[in-house]
Amino acid sequence: MVERLFSKQKVAGSRPVSRFFKIIYSDLKSHDYKKFSQEYSKLDITDTFYLGYRDVPELLKQYTKGKKALDFGCGSGRSTRFLKQLGFKITGVDINPDMIKQAMKLDPEGDYRLMQEGHIPLENESFDLVTVFIMLMEVPNLKKMKIIFSEIHRVLRKDGIVLIITDAENMYQHEAASFTFKFPENKNIKSGMQVKLKFRGGKIVFFDYYWTESDYKKVFISTRFKVIKLHKTLATGKELFKWYSESKYPHFSVYVIKKFKVWL
Ligand SMILES: C[S@@+](CC[C@H](N)C(=O)[O-])C[C@H]1O[C@@H](n2cnc3c(N)ncnc32)[C@H](O)[C@@H]1O
Repeated sequence: MVERLFSKQKVAGSRPVSRFFKIIYSDLKSHDYKKFSQEYSKLDITDTFYLGYRDVPELLKQYTKGKKALDFGCGSGRSTRFLKQLGFKITGVDINPDMIKQAMKLDPEGDYRLMQEGHIPLENESFDLVTVFIMLMEVPNLKKMKIIFSEIHRVLRKDGIVLIITDAENMYQHEAASFTFKFPENKNIKSGMQVKLKFRGGKIVFFDYYWTESDYKKVFISTRFKVIKLHKTLATGKELFKWYSESKYPHFSVYVIKKFKVWL
């Protein structure tokens, strides 16, 4: 199963960054999907992304009890299609119409829904699993992050779990197969600050928000979630990809969280 999921692996590092790459980024504040949704939709689960996703099938096997799932921040559906292949009955939600359009184009049979920020248009306690893959770095402040997790708490069943893939704390200090982080913005960063990355071999440049583990954990606790697993993915060196620093430094963290009971 895992082989099939990642069967489109390519050897990374063979795609040089264009020396003539010239775009004026001054208009870019964070994640300009109007400009980049089509290019983003072509991204596969390869290179550094592969490491983020690699251990998810095993973690899901270990922690999930049912198959009804919600992919929060589904984007162009890469994560949604991945979960569908794992046998989940999945709905993808996202606030960006361009990304939802791409998701529907790539998976016309899929269930993708545009949501208003802060409100998941679905029923209380209706999902066994909520996934939040490579999305939290787009949240500009902790108040919004708390609203997101309160909504996730509402739609999650009592014994459900949330599985999150997000940037590891030291991601921006170490070059990676999928991204370059060599920008002055990434020096002396603190939680909540904007950081900059460019996807290798393409035009996508994003300004992510850098969040520490300690801030993520504060948000989870305040929205009545507890961390049951924090997993960091390192390359083994046996993969087909040409790594930069992935064997030494984790670029993605995977959190498994679940609801805790409040005794009144
Ligand atoms: C980098 S993409 C990741 C897409 C997909 N999960 C994947 O792994 O390829 C992040 C997505 O999160 C969405 N997003 C950002 N803020 C959001 C919010 N507050 N609520 C829902 N979706 C949001 C963006 O529109 C974008 O499509």
